[in-house]
Amino acid sequence: MNWEVILAPYSQVVEELKVKLKGMRAQFEYETRHSPIEFIVGRVKPIQSILEKAEKRNVPLDRIETDIQDIAGIRIVCQFVDDIYTVVDMLKSRKDFTIIEEKDYISREKESGYRSYHMIIEYPVETIHGNKVILAEIQIRTLAMNFWATNEHSLNYKYKGQIPEDLKQRLQRAAEAAFKLDEEMSKIKTEVQEAQRILYRK
Ligand code: GTP
Ligand code: MG
Repeated sequence: MNWEVILAPYSQVVEELKVKLKGMRAQFEYETRHSPIEFIVGRVKPIQSILEKAEKRNVPLDRIETDIQDIAGIRIVCQFVDDIYTVVDMLKSRKDFTIIEEKDYISREKESGYRSYHMIIEYPVETIHGNKVILAEIQIRTLAMNFWATNEHSLNYKYKGQIPEDLKQRLQRAAEAAFKLDEEMSKIKTEVQEAQRILYRK
């Protein structure tokens, strides 16, 4: 398999989405005083991780592009929980891609304690061989959810997916604490934004 050839359209998609979403963010900053987007990151899944996932899920190599939906991944990080839904609505109204799946792990967190809003989209991209539709995963979460997920991900890596039970429980409690933080921040959102407005003279 020529991975560079296969992955090229995926990195094209990641770059295009980053440009577009950063454009949205800039526009929000010009026109309103608060952007629902704090920052955006994107990545193409490393070949090694693609292969490991394919093996774990019994996905044959010729089905990777349809069966592994997060080869192209975008993460949108927001300050407040309701910003997530603002972003979701904006993404839903866009005409440059189709949302084919949505998972709300915010109102119903995963067993680990993980919270985020997920979307799988079909994104048409122009290649030198014509138009190609690429699947991409968009994760939308708050800074607090991101903090938790990043740390939990590191521990999962360290323990190869087998986090000891006591640590798992600690993580679940930490996830609850992160969510409480989000709830408390929501309650003082207008004040926080007013302060930020004065601070950054917007
Ligand atoms: P994957 O095999 O992980 O793709 O699971 P899935 O197809 O059931 O999709 P799901 O929406 O559950 O998860 C997709 C992605 O969300 C993962 O690749 C992670 O980036 C993230 N994610 C899901 N669950 C967790 C979790 O418990 N902890 C962390 N840190 N990230 C998670
Ligand atoms: Mg997935």
